[in-house]
Amino acid sequence: MELELRNVTVSYSSAEKILDNFNLEVNKGLFFGITGKSGSGKTTLLETICGFHKPEMGQVLFNNQNIYEGKFDTVSFRKKVQMVFQFPENQFFETDIRKEIEFGIKNTTLSSEDLNRRVTETLQTVGLNDNETEELSPFALSGGQKRRLALACALVLQPEILLLDEPFSGLDNSGQNQIIKILQNIKTKGTTILMVSHDPNVLCEIADRIIVMNDGRIIKNEIPPIVYSDKQFCSQLGIGQPDTITAANLLDVNLNNDFTYENFITKLAEKLLLKNND
Ligand SMILES: Nc1ncnc2c1ncn2[C@@H]1O[C@H](COP(=O)(O)OP(=O)(O)OP(=O)(O)O)[C@@H](O)[C@H]1O
Ligand SMILES: [Mg+2]
Repeated sequence: MELELRNVTVSYSSAEKILDNFNLEVNKGLFFGITGKSGSGKTTLLETICGFHKPEMGQVLFNNQNIYEGKFDTVSFRKKVQMVFQFPENQFFETDIRKEIEFGIKNTTLSSEDLNRRVTETLQTVGLNDNETEELSPFALSGGQKRRLALACALVLQPEILLLDEPFSGLDNSGQNQIIKILQNIKTKGTTILMVSHDPNVLCEIADRIIVMNDGRIIKNEIPPIVYSDKQFCSQLGIGQPDTITAANLLDVNLNNDFTYENFITKLAEKLLLKNND
């Protein structure tokens, strides 16, 4: 198991448990979508995995080693597990985007040639690699470009686990789709991803499993169709259902438990063709 949380309990100053006896096993290369009402503990969960909140009880294990134990190698862990915070663009500080990306790997043993190559590859991965854009200040980028730059700052370290806190918030459809494509590409390279999102449409497109949280606990840890086909459950937990389900119900299309847009279009086309052939 690459990552495991065992009976983890986290509180801030008050007696309230923000993560309450939390258990989770994450296999390498899987994409977990984490959803649930506001205040259910999603951000706290990512920050705890990242090493920011020492649990009062329980263990966070990375490759079977407790990350909060004194002898744990925190320096190499920080390179292997990268978190992109919500609205990460607020933290940019360099004068151009190459420097912003370079910052994270400056203190590695890479030669300057390798470092340059790594930055160029990362710029390509996030689609910011044209000469004109590369020279811009991070603050001159569009909202979607800023978000991709923030992703690049994490990806340049080639993390084994990527933690994303609502990477789509505030983006329009086009910005959102660009990030989805990048994440799909990263996933094919074997990176484990845990992504917090309130958007059932996006989660059905890219997540292998969905974790539904409520009051610091996991209510469900299942594949997307099992979570999102239960209308009553989704409404009780306030997580919504994907638009494909609503549209399929309206048009009387059977999605066969695959709620992606591609499947919706395919099934709708099949239905229309059948109708025309009648
Ligand atoms: N630094 C902090 N100090 C004290 N309480 C905090 C702190 N950060 C979060 N909390 C509280 O912990 C609970 C869980 O917060 P968290 O941010 O993890 O929830 P969330 O599921 O990410 O919510 P959202 O969907 O709104 O981002 C909330 O009640 C919040 O007020
Ligand atoms: Mg949050």
